[in-house]
Amino acid sequence: TEREYIITDKKGEKQNVGYIQLNRRKALNALCDGLMKEVATALDDFEADKDVGCIVLTGIDRAFAAGADIMEMKDRQFSEVVASDFLTSWNRLADCKKPVIAAVNGYALGGGCEVAMMCDIIYAGENAKFGQPEIIIGTIPGAGGTQRLCKAIGKSKAMEMVLTGNMINAEDAEKAGLVSKVFPVDQVVNEAIKTAEQIAGYSKITTALCKEAVNKGFEMPLKEGLHFEKRLFHATFATSDRKEGMTAFAEKRKPNFTDS
Ligand code: HXC
Repeated sequence: TEREYIITDKKGEKQNVGYIQLNRRKALNALCDGLMKEVATALDDFEADKDVGCIVLTGIDRAFAAGADIMEMKDRQFSEVVASDFLTSWNRLADCKKPVIAAVNGYALGGGCEVAMMCDIIYAGENAKFGQPEIIIGTIPGAGGTQRLCKAIGKSKAMEMVLTGNMINAEDAEKAGLVSKVFPVDQVVNEAIKTAEQIAGYSKITTALCKEAVNKGFEMPLKEGLHFEKRLFHATFATSDRKEGMTAFAEKRKPNFTDS
């Protein structure tokens, strides 16, 4: 489906991967309000779709996204941004219950880098460039660039990026742990879809619990995180899929998950 700023589709042999392509080419996928609203709607649809087990979010070859829309932002006043809680609606992506893989080619700058970091896994093309250049235009990252980036790559590297606005390339991003794998540009999306198909093949209850355990852990002291993990682990014993998975192993066959 082609909307104004994005294209959505279902991919994979079993059509169990939700696909969102940011497609605002002439502005290098600058993330205007309309674009982020369309992304939120697509996420609503894929979350409600019982067949979809994982989502891939990508952009175009030149840019995953070159940031929040500077043209749209430039004349906004403090009173406006605070009253509308500007950018808080972007959390829709971070709050998605189904796993999301970002397939990044080209620029992932400012809000673009932050959107990629809201995803659960980042795959990058060899031409990918990550940066938080907000400092150059007189502002600071506002959607996780001072928080998630620090957790992803550590304080010194994150500080260097947010204070200089300099970009890092795909290879450095992989070394730093920001992205999990790097591929040739024309293969990133397919590789992301392959991984998404694998994830979508598991029980959707289990993948949601697993994602929740990892993400909550970022926000909790270790002791509480471990406790939360343990309880979610215990909770899998209330599912049929846990029983089916272990039984299938014992019977040397493939599990038949029913998402229950
Ligand atoms: C609006 C943008 C844009 C953006 C690019 N464009 N980035 N429009 N907002 N963030 C537009 C340009 O105005 C231009 O439109 C077209 O896209 C192509 O861009 P060029 O600059 O001509 O391309 P190029 O010379 O190849 O340079 C690419 C670039 C550069 C290095 C990515 O565009 C750039 O520096 N963009 C801004 C990056 C940035 O500062 N991002 C952070 C934004 S702040 P026309 O009409 O002239 O063809 C941010 C705040 C986040 O994200 C706060 C919390 C989310």
